[in-house]
Amino acid sequence: MSPNESIYENLGGAEALHRLVEVFYAKVQLHPQLGPLFPEDISPVLEKQYQFLTQFFGGGPLYSELHGHPMMRARHMHIPITPERAEEWLQCMEEALVETGVEEPLRSFVLSRLAGPAHHFVNMPQE
Ligand code: HEM
Repeated sequence: MSPNESIYENLGGAEALHRLVEVFYAKVQLHPQLGPLFPEDISPVLEKQYQFLTQFFGGGPLYSELHGHPMMRARHMHIPITPERAEEWLQCMEEALVETGVEEPLRSFVLSRLAGPAHHFVNMPQE
């Protein structure tokens, strides 16, 4: 992990991020609590997540250029996100990072950067 480079560069750039997002959503779709929340055709979500994470991890403002201000909490308001689902989302991401070969300490650093938003998007209590 190079402290002088962005998370985006540390992860390996566009190709690595695409692969991460693909592996992540394959898990999300199979997850009993998360899968049913997503549209059947996951590819638009996958593409937007790729754009968002590129931006979030310092690879350039891809998402904002195409979709405007991220307002990510607002964009999740119509989805019933419980504390449990936030943890499950992060768990899928951790597994995807492991499977795509992202090693420590980068893996924990990436997860810690995503944990804040994931908990912030919680918009309903435990079911
Ligand atoms: C906390 C648990 C989370 C759940 C259950 C969740 C669920 C979802 C669902 C169901 C969609 C599709 C919405 C639709 O098609 O209408 C979506 C879209 C998206 N999510 Fe999440 N999400 C979570 C956390 C996050 C986090 C932590 C991030 C990034 C930091 C994120 C980034 C995105 C992006 C970029 C989109 C596409 C937004 C757009 O339409 O432009 N999500 N999410």
